Amino acid sequence: MGDKGRYYITTPIYYPSDRLHIGHAYTSTIADSIARWHRFNGKDVLFLTGSDEHGQKIERIAKARGIEPKDYVDKIVGTFKSLWEKYDITYDDFVRTTDERHRKVVQEVFQRIYDKGDIYKDTYEGWYCTPCEAFWVETKLEDGNCPDCGRPVELVKEESYFFKLSKYADGLLQHIQEHPEFIRPESRRNEMVNFIKSGLEDLCVSRTTFDWGIPVPIDENHVIYVWFDALTNYLTGAGFLQDEAAFARYWPADLHLVGKEIVRFHTIIWPIILMALDLPLPKTVFGHGWLLFGDEKMSKSKGNVVDPMELADEFGVDAIRYFLLREISFGQDGSFTRQALIDRINADLANDLGNLLHRSVAMIIRYRDGVIPLVGPLTELEEELQHLAATTVVEVGEHIDKLELNGALSAIWRLVARTNKYIDEAAPWSLNKAGNNERLDTVLYHLAETLRILALLIKSFLPTTGAKMWTQLGIATDLELCQVEDAKWGGLRPNTKVQKGEPIFPRIELDETNEADANDETPQKTKKEVQPAGGQTVVQTKTDKPLIDIDDFAKLDLRVAEIKQAEPVPGADRLLQLQIKIGTEERQIVAGIAQHYQPEALIGKHIVVVANLKPAKVRGVVSEGMLLAASTPDGLGLLTVERDIPSGAQVK
Ligand code: MSP
Repeated sequence: MGDKGRYYITTPIYYPSDRLHIGHAYTSTIADSIARWHRFNGKDVLFLTGSDEHGQKIERIAKARGIEPKDYVDKIVGTFKSLWEKYDITYDDFVRTTDERHRKVVQEVFQRIYDKGDIYKDTYEGWYCTPCEAFWVETKLEDGNCPDCGRPVELVKEESYFFKLSKYADGLLQHIQEHPEFIRPESRRNEMVNFIKSGLEDLCVSRTTFDWGIPVPIDENHVIYVWFDALTNYLTGAGFLQDEAAFARYWPADLHLVGKEIVRFHTIIWPIILMALDLPLPKTVFGHGWLLFGDEKMSKSKGNVVDPMELADEFGVDAIRYFLLREISFGQDGSFTRQALIDRINADLANDLGNLLHRSVAMIIRYRDGVIPLVGPLTELEEELQHLAATTVVEVGEHIDKLELNGALSAIWRLVARTNKYIDEAAPWSLNKAGNNERLDTVLYHLAETLRILALLIKSFLPTTGAKMWTQLGIATDLELCQVEDAKWGGLRPNTKVQKGEPIFPRIELDETNEADANDETPQKTKKEVQPAGGQTVVQTKTDKPLIDIDDFAKLDLRVAEIKQAEPVPGADRLLQLQIKIGTEERQIVAGIAQHYQPEALIGKHIVVVANLKPAKVRGVVSEGMLLAASTPDGLGLLTVERDIPSGAQVK
């Protein structure tokens, strides 16, 4: 195989200020799918992700919890890695900004720019948004708040090093004009051009009022501004100053994939750092839209942050990946609701793809003892199917090149739909009945071969599904190693023996839980806001929920219950199935506490449950009530009673 070139793609390095939510999983799933697609096309891919660990925000959070910032971030970064493992994110490298290799790069970058005369010392007086880690001049504030996130800003006055952004403004504008692909989509390019034209202030690139950061090499009283530190991770990950050959191969990056709120940092500060270093600029910064919850921004204070781990436990990773890739028009804001997710699963995955595989494999087993037959003469129907399969492979590639992820999946699903229609048109059952064996062979081969091509196309987006299809088709070669050339028609060898398997996407039955929240959009899978304060984690006391009166509260039947038995729910690593006793009554409940409690440690505990919650099925297991627990990002505690109160007692 010749050299098909390389492809360097990055995600933002996320703040380990808290666990990640579904919005972060959105960016990483897209980046992973693009990376996998390029590998499938024979490219040498470098896919980089990481964690942005320094800065005032993280230092404050750690301090508020009374722990060292490094200990705090170590723990959260562990949860990032577990999430990426769960979501099958195949990153090649993970840069932590606390890595020694990264510190060296950042200090050297700072030093080089300083030596060049582009960094100078002065005093900064202005505003700072700690959640965004951004400096603002007064005129840009909106109602005195951060124009990006709307939160309050703080007045800062301190000695600082400044980076001469203004010196590079014209050069940057020229680059943007000459390289329309540098900032995408176009609407964001226009915004950035206007921003630059309105005048660039020199940027403060050091802080002195806290010390959780990389020291300025020439002045140990200063730490380097966290965005200067963070953006440089893209050089660290490519081997800058550590592996010249790798750096020469991978730099400049092909694609920095980021959310729209950080396009400014990536298309102004970052290219100017690179210009000052005389390094080529990345080819594309793509600012995608936000994943909203319904039509609201996801935020901890609204309590509508969707936990990607819980979601994957409940619906399976590929279903979530599919939803994220397909539902949202890439570049624009999109909306997450459980109803939309369930609809996609049932229609596209269970019905269209799942049934196609199931029916085809079942017919090959029924009519040909599971053996894929030899193909006979073709009719127009087969010619059309073959043609569509071939054009779909090309079309998916074109969509990915244009970063139209939803377009790529729509193209694949058009082939799925056409193949389902082919079954109805070719009617294998009638061919069997009529004893038209040659024609039946041809039809069955065409079904299996289209499914093989579909598995190859799907594997970049839904890796587990691709693999399951491969197994059911009985193909012996390693799917991981297959490349786009293998998606040519005719690759399936007759005599391959298919294997009956479970449905790849069981339908989600709308039980009460799902129906209820589909109707009223209640954020079922959400975490309550937790904020650090006064040395410990406290629950945010401001509530967005409407006030209730005592009658509303009286509707709840809260009871003390005793846990009699506890065991994991198979296939759901967050869930435990508990047998409890409320007085004399025995019940079963399902609780999302498996990551916090060993089942055996729960036996005998007296807990508090909502006893009059409508029963619901959770992952196929009936749950007749709900236990109460308080949660923070780093733990969960069950509500218990402080004295030895017998089970069944009412809680009011
Ligand atoms: N640490 C900086 C990035 C530094 S990159 C050199 C940062 N971190 S973050 O944890 O706040 O992550 C922001 C990114 O997460 C967004 O740019 C986007 O990629 C992703 N998303 C976070 N919430 C999201 C949505 N609700 N929807 C879509 N993407 C979201 O900013």
